[in-house]
Amino acid sequence: MIIAIDGPAASGKGTLAKAVAERLHLAHLDSGLLYRAVAKRLLDRGVSLDAEPEAQHVAAALDLSGLDPAALRGAEMGEAASRVAAYPTVRAALVHLQRNFALRPGGAVIDGRDIGTVIFPDAQVKLFVTASSEERARRRWRELVLGGSPLDFDAVLADIRRRDERDSTRSAAPLRQAPDAVLIDTTHLEPDAALDAALAVIAEKRDRQDEAASLSPRVL
Ligand code: CDP
Repeated sequence: MIIAIDGPAASGKGTLAKAVAERLHLAHLDSGLLYRAVAKRLLDRGVSLDAEPEAQHVAAALDLSGLDPAALRGAEMGEAASRVAAYPTVRAALVHLQRNFALRPGGAVIDGRDIGTVIFPDAQVKLFVTASSEERARRRWRELVLGGSPLDFDAVLADIRRRDERDSTRSAAPLRQAPDAVLIDTTHLEPDAALDAALAVIAEKRDRQDEAASLSPRVL
């Protein structure tokens, strides 16, 4: 089963995707790490984020084993990732990596911005996780404070809004809810409650799939 979880920054999609994957014993890919890694490699080499051909080149050479999530987190890398993620050639170079990841027995949970719309338009389960921008900024601000790199709350809110705007208005795979995705608004939802809501959706889809399989004519 492929479970696609999309949503804006700090909506809780990553936490939810990880929890769903653990509960169902599925592999999990945080696709945001791919765009963060492309941005970081460019910056480490002193290459401008405006250089689309170099960004495409880096994306095409990326492999999952070289990703270090700890080095890729952080507000600046989120902003930089959103800039390279707007390049259609970068997105195209990362499609196979993501699709190959899910080609494993049992499937996978993948979270991002375009998983249910572009990467896995036929995913059996699609969730779109969101929350108000103020609540998302509060969460990100808390993470930064706990991580020892505090930022002004208004700066965090401005970053979230800028990224929402860029991610949803870009022409290549803009952030949007797939028509068949189930919306989970976590503004007033604790992580455990969001997990329960997701598991209920997944169980329902599984039941429907099992029912459809049992009704389909068998070839003898
Ligand atoms: O954790 P957070 O939501 O802040 O960021 P992320 O999921 O790591 O994504 C960082 C940036 O990568 C986003 O702002 C998007 O521009 C981009 N991204 C994307 O375009 N498509 C994806 N499937 C995942 C991330």
